Amino acid sequence: MRKPFAAGNWKMNTNRKTGVELVSSLAEGASDLAGEDVTVAVCPPFVYLESIIKALHNSNIAVGAQDLYFESDGAFTGEISVAMLKDIGCTYCLCGHSERRHVIGETDELVNKKVTAAINGGLLPILCVGELLEERKSEKTNEVVTRHLEKGLAGLNDEKVLAVTIAYEPVWAIGTGLTATPEQAQEVHLFIRNLLSKMYNETIASEMRILYGGSVKPSNTAELMANPDVDGVLVGGASLKAEDFLGIIKASVQ
Ligand code: 13P
Repeated sequence: MRKPFAAGNWKMNTNRKTGVELVSSLAEGASDLAGEDVTVAVCPPFVYLESIIKALHNSNIAVGAQDLYFESDGAFTGEISVAMLKDIGCTYCLCGHSERRHVIGETDELVNKKVTAAINGGLLPILCVGELLEERKSEKTNEVVTRHLEKGLAGLNDEKVLAVTIAYEPVWAIGTGLTATPEQAQEVHLFIRNLLSKMYNETIASEMRILYGGSVKPSNTAELMANPDVDGVLVGGASLKAEDFLGIIKASVQ
């Protein structure tokens, strides 16, 4: 049985004050659900991670980073290692978010190094996969998702892959207000699960959580979550308002 998972990706938003206020409201509003019925995580900007982790002390809301660097230490100006994130109390880390792939230029090979470093260092990676609009239009969705998964998970054995959460985020649905229909989401999620089954085995595929991301709102969460292979949501814009994210957390518990 896969526990629902609601994760908020704040991207490059908030400041220390608004971030702390946001998580204080979430901790209060989700105290009866978070941890028990649903895994809840927020991914603030690096510089606020420590303040947010302190503010969430005593709550069951986990904190994740939006990125990491795969080397353990050394001359990598501007980068943040897994050990640093563990040191301040992070649990999760997004890897291969579409904005990092398409705006910053991360390759599948780099994403794989990050996923691997996260697991080896004790962080739980959330590996983001998903197609661009032109790729969907030219019916390349399955091909793109296959490449993201096969390359992103390369070299991970059965035990290690179980640390990974997959997030299917069609790029055309991110920040556009265009959500994949529940049928479109289920179709790709099932494809992903079948692929995981082929890459690993049926038990592993049935245990791994696959989140949907792309214009998730309180009003569309329940219909997305009603699909058998949608195990949670990765939320951008709507995770920045306590009321909206609380609505999503509640709607993700069926
Ligand atoms: P939106 O919910 O703003 O579309 O963003 C989705 C996303 O990119 C989460 O990682």
